[in-house]
Amino acid sequence: RKKVRIHHFKEMKQRGEKIAMLTAYDFPTARAFDAGGADILLVGDSLGDNMLGMESTVPLELDEMIPFARAVVRGAEHAFVVADLPFGAYEVSPEQAVESSIRMVKLSGAHAIKFEGGRRIARQVKAVTDAGIPFCGHLGFTPQSETALGGRRIQGRGEHGIEELVADALALQEAGAFAVVLEMVIAPAAKAVTEALDIPTIGIGAGPDTDGQVLVWLDMAGVGDWHPRFSKQFGAVGQAMTDAAAAYVGEVKDVAFPAAEHTFES
Ligand code: KIV
Ligand code: NA
Repeated sequence: RKKVRIHHFKEMKQRGEKIAMLTAYDFPTARAFDAGGADILLVGDSLGDNMLGMESTVPLELDEMIPFARAVVRGAEHAFVVADLPFGAYEVSPEQAVESSIRMVKLSGAHAIKFEGGRRIARQVKAVTDAGIPFCGHLGFTPQSETALGGRRIQGRGEHGIEELVADALALQEAGAFAVVLEMVIAPAAKAVTEALDIPTIGIGAGPDTDGQVLVWLDMAGVGDWHPRFSKQFGAVGQAMTDAAAAYVGEVKDVAFPAAEHTFES
């Protein structure tokens, strides 16, 4: 398998090969998903709520993300690694966005940066891509602005919903983005954006017409107990971990483990 590189994404869109993206936050998970053929590993700011137990993604800091992103880069042999910037690391100005992106890329080795928003952050995106850093957009439901959006609501609805999304996506493409994530948008809006862009769209809760799909890996693998409608459990990893732990605990209590073959007699 060849190393996934930036120019492959547009080629994949052109030949109709779907892009498979998964989040990853550490070395063994990155290795497993790389071996499973994931094209892109996303060190999402979903790290905050999914891995660190935060209430949302909002409290997560840039410097808290860096060791996780570094670990994923170490575990990714073929996959392209995208790292999120967390809330507060890019909104202030193009300069702030470039400084945060450079810090993430320098300290983690991530291949590209993603952050949320459309026309409102297009100047930031232009500055980041002008600095030579590949950028992936994120439109639709944007968890960092959940409060402003009025909660976890499906996006693209309403009279101008599709037009607004297409305008935001075109602004990101114009600013140099190589792809755009579409989160929780109605399928017709995702389809319209996908058709309007030369760069690929990667959907999560956006229907089947995007150029790729992304899921938070814990939801994908069946860890935890949040089962959003748009996700699907492709494994029962949480149960497998509990079963393994219970078997271990049982054997320790019964003094069945360690056995002779696990023991150094001399
Ligand atoms: O942080 C994240 O995991 C994401 C994906 C859901 C796209 O941004
Ligand atoms: Na994110």
